[in-house]
Amino acid sequence: GVRRLTAPDIRARKGGAPIVGLTAYHAPAARLADEHCDFLLVGDSLGMVLYGYDTTVPVTLDMMIAHGAAVVRASRHALVVVDLPFGSYEEGPQAAFRAASRIMKETGCGAVKLEGGCHMAATVGYLVERGIPVMGHVGLTPQSINTFGSFRPRGRDDIESEAIAADAEAVVSAGAFAVVVEAVPVRVAAALTRAMPVPTIGIGASVVCDGQILVMEDMLGLMPRVPKFVRRYAEIGSVAADAIARYAHDVRNRTFPGVENTYADPGFEEPEASA
Ligand code: KIV
Ligand code: NA
Repeated sequence: GVRRLTAPDIRARKGGAPIVGLTAYHAPAARLADEHCDFLLVGDSLGMVLYGYDTTVPVTLDMMIAHGAAVVRASRHALVVVDLPFGSYEEGPQAAFRAASRIMKETGCGAVKLEGGCHMAATVGYLVERGIPVMGHVGLTPQSINTFGSFRPRGRDDIESEAIAADAEAVVSAGAFAVVVEAVPVRVAAALTRAMPVPTIGIGASVVCDGQILVMEDMLGLMPRVPKFVRRYAEIGSVAADAIARYAHDVRNRTFPGVENTYADPGFEEPEASA
């Protein structure tokens, strides 16, 4: 059978062939992406993409578990990484362990991801020492939207770029097996990728990273607006809208359902259509 990729497999890819990550929130997405990706991220971006929230702050642990379990059921090759949502881990290592162990037990995923650097290092260490692989996430950390004030790129001055370098160093020293680097200039991403003994996974962090991740709905053209760092590989949204418009037209014209969509009923006489 197929052996699913593990956190140590991803860790071992440092400096090698680029690591391919993509978000997946549900079974059909997982089925599409599994064979092409090294890891699938059940990102808390699902709060914005699927649930229509303005930020990821309202996302709950129960939401992450429901979506994470669906992605694990529908995949068999890629490592599944599930985000710890805002409020489930910041209080301290023990709260983080409770949340992360529920995610691991109830979804069957292979790792969790949490946002933050220096102030999260103790938590990362606590989880890793107790059997929970952790992916870090530095730079733009969307759960901090209310203290940042906007989703603007990070690390564009020396103070911020040095803080991001210290954050990455802290979570990696604590045992993170990889670290997502979000929305930073190429200079910052290159310095981190050179300095870190584990893979950097870029999103809006240039081509220098050890791997890349995107939000699937962004790259498929399902979101009306996307950040500069997204390449739209398809326009599924307009394909879907056209299909829905044709369905509505066919229902209104009674051309759907057709005979091929209708169960045979030999003895039945069609009544005269009323005028
Ligand atoms: O929630 C998410 O989708 C993420 C990635 C974009 C890194 O954290
Ligand atoms: Na996230």
